[in-house]
Amino acid sequence: MDVDSTEAGGMSVCATPWAEPSDSVTTSDQPLPRPSLGAQLHYLRRLFTRPHQVLEEVNELHGPVVVLGAGPARLAIVGDPAAITDLFAEPTGSFRWKHKVNVLALWVGKDSILTSDGADHHRRRRALQAGFSRRRLNGWIPMILDATDTTIDRLIASLDEPAQTADLYPVGRTLVLDIVLRALCGPRLAHRAQEIDVLLQRGQDYIEGPAVRQFPHPFPMGRRHQVRQDRRAFDSIIDDEIARLRTAPDGDELNVLETLVTDGELTDAEIRDQMATLIAAGYDTASTTLAWVLLRAAATPGLWDRLASEADLALREIGSAAAPDHTTLAALDLADRTVRESLRLHPPGVFGVREAVVDVTAGGYRIPRHTLIAWSFHLAGRDPAYWPDPLRFDPDRHLDLTPEQAAHAKAAWVPFGGGARNCIGFALAQIELTLIVARLAQRLHLAPVDTTVPQATRRSRPEGGVPLHVTVR
Ligand code: HEM
Repeated sequence: MDVDSTEAGGMSVCATPWAEPSDSVTTSDQPLPRPSLGAQLHYLRRLFTRPHQVLEEVNELHGPVVVLGAGPARLAIVGDPAAITDLFAEPTGSFRWKHKVNVLALWVGKDSILTSDGADHHRRRRALQAGFSRRRLNGWIPMILDATDTTIDRLIASLDEPAQTADLYPVGRTLVLDIVLRALCGPRLAHRAQEIDVLLQRGQDYIEGPAVRQFPHPFPMGRRHQVRQDRRAFDSIIDDEIARLRTAPDGDELNVLETLVTDGELTDAEIRDQMATLIAAGYDTASTTLAWVLLRAAATPGLWDRLASEADLALREIGSAAAPDHTTLAALDLADRTVRESLRLHPPGVFGVREAVVDVTAGGYRIPRHTLIAWSFHLAGRDPAYWPDPLRFDPDRHLDLTPEQAAHAKAAWVPFGGGARNCIGFALAQIELTLIVARLAQRLHLAPVDTTVPQATRRSRPEGGVPLHVTVR
């Protein structure tokens, strides 16, 4: 697996015949296609409650690059991989992330990397990038496997029978939060995971709730006020830890928070906002992805057994003195491809949003400045011009690609974004998901309760959780 944190995951390669991307994208600088007024209102009304369905409908009926709304409420939907590539190739100064619909600011704060632009963003991203170096990513491997073993031990202990049905969604969520906290803040904060989970969850529920309930107000009442209080409670946990690390540093080179404190590049207020951002960004995304990986891997005939055989060879014995390292990861190619395939079909979320601050061209269309751009990894991952039989779950499609196929796949596999604002935690996410699925396959047999692919909820999670037949191997 490529753990270079400068590029969002180079594809490994594919044996399936690949269709040629269509020529439908225009070559000149054309205005964006616009559905009828009635259709626009119909889409906009449902966009935030049923985003998957609306995007698929818009794509099918009007194409992958479309504009909805007008004036300050103008939204371009961009789902064509070639057009998304154009967006990623634009200088970051062409866009703004601190825009009017960036509702995340309420939780992540005004100094967050997610809500900043220009020089501030550059400085904050540089400070954080040191936290995700290859050395650190490799250093986290034993911790990830240990945390996974503890979770599996707990799961086995909770089973009344050696083979039983269990919902692995909450199990995976607790595990992912534990890993994210250990990586970002060391073991001390991992012990406060439950407390942090409650604070985070309330903020996330509010931000992802109906837009009408999110009207900004400064009054000390209602759910918005509760989120501000939760954020203050989170800050005081981080402040205590910053103070402790200043007076008695642990010397833990793998702890991102300790690195930020000792580097001194960011103020304490900035550090608090980055920690709120990283934990929130790394928790729900990875646990939603893990849910889909387990459901799809268990329901794909023969795949779980292949994962188990690979894991038996690649992972050292549980409790063995030899620590696993990056060579362990390199031997987990099928687990890596299973995660990639799941992220192609079931990325957490549907689109990323940025605002154009200058006119930009994408896929031959001119997107006027002040347009909000919803670029969709969901549509790109299912585009039949880039992925043959796109709805088929097949990790082997990423094997043995020709250079041309690899270029197409690179354009259409964008769950972590691309360009200078790509996901800073993508390598951590890929490593943890690969190791978790491999360790689970080594120790448990998972089989589907129902082979029907569940619907995604508005938050992209599988509706109905992750019920699976669990047997101890
Ligand atoms: C499966 C897991 C994940 C997925 C699919 C994912 C996806 C994304 C995407 C699509 C973006 C780009 C948004 C844009 O262009 O506006 C992004 C940005 C970001 N992600 Fe992730 N992410 C994941 C896990 C993580 C983890 C584990 C962390 C950190 C612990 C993280 C931290 C961030 C940060 C800080 C940014 C903002 C980068 C910037 O603006 O410079 N993410 N992520």
